[in-house]
Amino acid sequence: MKATAVAPANIALIKYWGKKDSTLRIPLNPSISMNLSACTTTTTVEFSDDFEKDVVTEGFDRQRIIQHLDRFRTITQTHKKARMSTKNSFPTSAGIASSASGFAALTMAASAALGLKFSEKELTGFARLGSGSACRSIPDGFVKWEGEAAHSLYPETHWDLRDIIVIVEHTEKKVSSSAGHDLVHTSPNLQKRLADLPNRIVRIEEALRTKNFQMFGEVIEEECLDMHHVMQTQNPPLFYWNDTTKTIMDAVRTWRKEGLPVYFTIDAGPNVHLMCEGMDERRVLETLKTIVGIESIIFNKSAPGAHVIEMHLF
Ligand code: DP6
Repeated sequence: MKATAVAPANIALIKYWGKKDSTLRIPLNPSISMNLSACTTTTTVEFSDDFEKDVVTEGFDRQRIIQHLDRFRTITQTHKKARMSTKNSFPTSAGIASSASGFAALTMAASAALGLKFSEKELTGFARLGSGSACRSIPDGFVKWEGEAAHSLYPETHWDLRDIIVIVEHTEKKVSSSAGHDLVHTSPNLQKRLADLPNRIVRIEEALRTKNFQMFGEVIEEECLDMHHVMQTQNPPLFYWNDTTKTIMDAVRTWRKEGLPVYFTIDAGPNVHLMCEGMDERRVLETLKTIVGIESIIFNKSAPGAHVIEMHLF
């Protein structure tokens, strides 16, 4: 009873920030994301009567992983312990939503190892309980999460968009997003954000449908700044950006004025996601080389969702 699954991280175009129910991870608002081809987690889970205790990869949130394994043990009424090993293709906890790819891969691997036949919708529900954004890493390509489940809006082949992640800091983030979510209500700007979101969601869906890159870019930047405005006005305030983050945000505006169609978005960390169309990727990279303070760069296309790559049922 052993299976290996691969899942992509995802970049939120419309962000998930704040929960209606923090135990069940029901979000305050729908969110929309794109799966990332170069940021994946590969996880192997094996259940056996021979194991005396759960063994999970060092450095990951052990308690949260075991809690997730328990959810699968409860529904299958098994007491088998598990061995779990996992590997990320990108730095953990740097705001690249490693919990998203992590819990999506764990959900797929654990359910396959136990021989469970869940629908995609059910799998997104399970992944969500591990980490909210993980439910968006199960379906393919461009994904919308509303309430308890997520679904694909378009497959990864729909539009050749790129997400160039500019890593400006590899170190672990100081405040986890889970802790930050719980304080969202302390921001005086939350109600305005929630009132503005329905219109922003209509616009991003329209931009995705018609492949209107300018509209797409304007919405993702507006949304990124709005979420960070809420984060920065929480009590205590959450500032995820560093000086290089701000330099890049300014530079992107200048590059656009010079005719380069590129926009930014940022999750819960200092790293900047530069989004452009495939045909402009080389130009963005060339221009980016002028910035000081960049540690590394990860090139992503839109990607399929989580999938099982190996299974041993005996
Ligand atoms: C800023 O999914 O990490 O990246 O449900 O507590 O695990 P938990 O939170 P998490 O939050 C992600 C927040 C974000 C925005 C987003 O990905 O939508």
